[in-house]
Amino acid sequence: MRVLDNPLVSLATVSLLFIGVLLLYHTSSFFSNQFILCQKQPLYNQSNFTTTNVEADGDILDSALAKASMGNKTVMIAIVNKAYVESESSMLDIFLSSFWVGEGTRSLIHHILLVAVDQIAYDRCIFLNLNCFRLQTDGVDFEGEKIYMSQDFIKMMWRRTQFLLQVLKRGYNFIFTDTDVMWLRNPFTRLSKNETEDLQISTDGYNGDPWSNTNFINTGFYFVRSNNKTVSLFETWYGQKDNSTGKKEQDVLLDLIRGGIIEQLGLRVRFLDTLYFSGFCQDSKDFRAVTTVHANCCRSIHAKVLDLKVVLSDWKRFRTNSTINPQWTKHEGCMKSW
Ligand SMILES: *[C@@H]1O[C@H](CO)[C@@H](O)[C@H](O)[C@H]1NC(C)=O
Ligand SMILES: *[C@@H]1O[C@H](CO)[C@@H](O)[C@H](O)[C@H]1NC(C)=O
Ligand SMILES: *[C@@H]1O[C@H](CO)[C@@H](O)[C@H](O)[C@H]1NC(C)=O
Ligand SMILES: *[C@@H]1O[C@H](CO)[C@@H](O)[C@H](O)[C@H]1NC(C)=O
Ligand SMILES: *[C@@H]1O[C@H](CO)[C@@H](O)[C@H](O)[C@H]1NC(C)=O
Ligand SMILES: *[C@@H]1O[C@H](CO)[C@@H](O)[C@H](O)[C@H]1NC(C)=O
Ligand SMILES: *[C@@H]1O[C@H](CO)[C@@H](O)[C@H](O)[C@H]1NC(C)=O
Repeated sequence: MRVLDNPLVSLATVSLLFIGVLLLYHTSSFFSNQFILCQKQPLYNQSNFTTTNVEADGDILDSALAKASMGNKTVMIAIVNKAYVESESSMLDIFLSSFWVGEGTRSLIHHILLVAVDQIAYDRCIFLNLNCFRLQTDGVDFEGEKIYMSQDFIKMMWRRTQFLLQVLKRGYNFIFTDTDVMWLRNPFTRLSKNETEDLQISTDGYNGDPWSNTNFINTGFYFVRSNNKTVSLFETWYGQKDNSTGKKEQDVLLDLIRGGIIEQLGLRVRFLDTLYFSGFCQDSKDFRAVTTVHANCCRSIHAKVLDLKVVLSDWKRFRTNSTINPQWTKHEGCMKSW
């Protein structure tokens, strides 16, 4: 134990542990990502699409985007399936609670487009009176929590990328958010407003340099502007679909970045500081700055829900007395989920 009394040694030990956890997390086949969707038919073939939308002839996605959009053609997109909307305190409920208890986040709820991949998720979305889009799928059951790297899991991941490409092509900027991200403050106040920045993406571990490609990206939260370069990026990303056996789409993007796609397309990509856009891999150091908290470095929905509830109660405690800077409670559920 004496050796740990040396602050340098213990800092090094903690750093090594952190890197180790990140590596494990990034390579582990037990990682439970958010599921998405898939289909064999073209995305917008609405021939047998059932919806309450009355504009039968209009493009349903176009009108859903227009309705959810802010004046500047910017929306927030989250994708849900049955596993995320069921039970009395589901992931979706906690996600929505964060907008309620967050600072300046309540009105953002009108600009979320919730993309439902099965009927139960869609019904729940309609019941909650949110902006809903039903992504029709054929031949694949998306209701369950997908087993990591199963065929359906992979199809769903790629379906998500394909869907988001369509949104970009329609000229919408968007924040993509997983539903295990708590929105404690309005992210637009911390995202760069500089229009030359094409993509601003969260990280599991921030290395201190917003322009360094060696940051560990996390595709659970990012802001992307719609332009030719970002459309090319998503096309290239989606183009890897049949050439990336055994990789999840986040790893494919990471490989593209390491392979120089940013330079090739002339993209400006900002990697977001965990001081603001944080997660369980690396907590934000400051309650006064924290903007989002992602239940990353975690393996199951159950553990995420458990620990995110604690995050919200830590946050509420801070909000009732902001003269103290509390510590985040340890994410025990997630730590045990490994
Ligand atoms: C939609 O799919 C159906 C069945 O595959 C096909 O008959 C129809 O032509 C398609 N409609 C459009 C607009 O692509
Ligand atoms: C939707 O259309 C496809 C192709 O036309 C068909 O195979 C499928 O059974 C239809 N689904 C429903 C729910 O009608
Ligand atoms: C879009 O408008 C909203 C509301 O006025 C603002 O908060 C946000 O920063 C704008 N987004 C962009 C990308 O300019
Ligand atoms: C946006 O960033 C570019 C590149 O750093 C810079 O040249 C430009 O002045 C910035 N624009 C604004 C409005 O800050
Ligand atoms: C994007 O590409 C299209 C087709 O190549 C071109 O017509 C358009 O001017 C480009 N837009 C921008 C903003 O570069
Ligand atoms: C497929 O992957 C291999 C190895 O990563 C690479 O050399 C090849 O260029 C890729 N093919 C396409 C079409 O991207
Ligand atoms: C907030 O906490 C500080 C430090 O613990 C304490 O001195 C202060 O009285 C508290 N304020 C309220 C309103 O509870």
